[in-house]
Amino acid sequence: MSDELKSTAKALVAPAKGILAADESSGTIKKRFDSIGVESTEEARRGYRDLLFTTEGAAEHISGVILYDETIRQSSADGTPFPAKLAEQGIIPGIKVDAGAKDLASAPGEKITEGLDGLRERLAEYRELGARFTKWRAVITIGEDIPSEYCVWTNAHALARFAALSQEAGLVPIVEPEVLMDGTHTIERSFDVTSRTLHATFTELRDQRVHLEGILLKPNMVVSGYECPTQANVDEVAEKTLLCFQRHVPAAVPGIVFLSGGQSDEDATAHLNAMNARGPHAWQLSYSYGRAL
Ligand code: 13P
Repeated sequence: MSDELKSTAKALVAPAKGILAADESSGTIKKRFDSIGVESTEEARRGYRDLLFTTEGAAEHISGVILYDETIRQSSADGTPFPAKLAEQGIIPGIKVDAGAKDLASAPGEKITEGLDGLRERLAEYRELGARFTKWRAVITIGEDIPSEYCVWTNAHALARFAALSQEAGLVPIVEPEVLMDGTHTIERSFDVTSRTLHATFTELRDQRVHLEGILLKPNMVVSGYECPTQANVDEVAEKTLLCFQRHVPAAVPGIVFLSGGQSDEDATAHLNAMNARGPHAWQLSYSYGRAL
């Protein structure tokens, strides 16, 4: 594995820094804008991202930004392309490369992430445009009889194919197997499903020859489902999340960067802080938040 992959992965989880996920697809950013009564035009999306990327002092806390296909081709108000604008502040540009979660065949309520066709060529173009890391999100839903092993393993397989292709292109893959926090399930059920998902993901990564020193893991925290009548407190979330990752994430992985998944910014921050207060850990623990930032 190249030293560049290792050093990029390490830089993304430098102490006290985390990642800004600004890679909402056009559909998702429209939902966010609708909620505050802003029309989602290309210029509004550009202006919003520009505001985030040029915030004074951002580079003190943000190591990298995940861009969307439209965004990586846009420019800051002064005409500098966004990837260069970020790089000049010492922020590493990255790119979401999956094509979204679609219905999984013969599996009601379950999803599979698409986007592998033509990925090698797209990765080469993104690297040319300045990206140094990539992201692929798999979605695992907890419900009465789901997730199925079929859903867990097909998503893990796709994550590993994405990761292997990214490393081949000299890009650090952020492997995101997201177990959704929505639902009535208990924290114990979240622990069980997250364990199964991580087990499948790291099995496929190994089988597909992915170098763990050159990836980052972007998982959910182990929490009670949002509609569960009993809500686990901060200590319980920290303990169960850490136990789950100690059992399933090899120490060779340089960093775990959590998604926020619809938690409030206060909750997402309190949970991460409680986990780091119990450190040191085998991996750096940080964030790759969208909504919570
Ligand atoms: P949230 O932190 O809003 O869950 O977004 C992170 C992300 O990139 C999901 O793919």
